[in-house]
Amino acid sequence: MVQRTEAESRVALKDGRSVTIRQLMEQDHVALINFGLGLPKNDLLYLEDDFQNPEIISRMIHANAAENWWQIVAVTDDGSIVAYTSALRMPGWSYHVANIRLIVDRAWRRSGLGMAMAQAIVDVAHDIGAGKVMVEMLTAQTAGQAIFGRLGFAVEGQLARHAIDRDGNLHDIVLMSAFIRR
Ligand SMILES: CC(C)(COP(=O)(O)OP(=O)(O)OC[C@H]1O[C@@H](n2cnc3c(N)ncnc32)[C@H](O)[C@@H]1OP(=O)(O)O)[C@@H](O)C(=O)NCCC(=O)NCCS
Repeated sequence: MVQRTEAESRVALKDGRSVTIRQLMEQDHVALINFGLGLPKNDLLYLEDDFQNPEIISRMIHANAAENWWQIVAVTDDGSIVAYTSALRMPGWSYHVANIRLIVDRAWRRSGLGMAMAQAIVDVAHDIGAGKVMVEMLTAQTAGQAIFGRLGFAVEGQLARHAIDRDGNLHDIVLMSAFIRR
């Protein structure tokens, strides 16, 4: 069993603001609901997880101590969540692979928070012994591709018309991955 650490770090952003990056906890339920409600429609269209579905938020919170799903949030001094990232270990013969998700509140973008969260979740994947990390996003999500590209991820493939948004439109997705060195 992988031991969880209670490590948290304070991160100073490029615009002078700062946040605490730490593991998602049970007490974050309301803050996570508010984070989801604050996401703009455009983001919701393209997100794999429905951050405005109370059942999905409850599932995330209940899984805060799950062995195969590590969830990290960026929290302001008043307890608001402004970014979320997770690493979900795949089942079966891909158990060494961790699938990453990342989203930052609109008002907190372009200050280095996305990069800091991506680095934090890749570090977690390393610590839990994952041998490979991967992330899927729409080809249109170029900011995410820039972030993971900087962290050494390479494009492993593209899947045509593989995602359907909440308006019923089909999109290509890009798979990026990196192997973790020990
Ligand atoms: C992708 C996302 C997490 C980036 O968050 P962020 O906090 O703005 O990221 P950062 O400020 O750390 O930006 C890091 C780099 O990404 C690139 N980038 C970020 N936003 C960009 C944009 N809108 N256009 C082009 N490049 C962008 C830049 O290279 C930037 O570095 P720079 O500021 O030194 O130029 C955020 O836009 C988001 O939540 N998008 C919706 C969900 C998503 O696409 N997730 C990624 C795949 S799971």
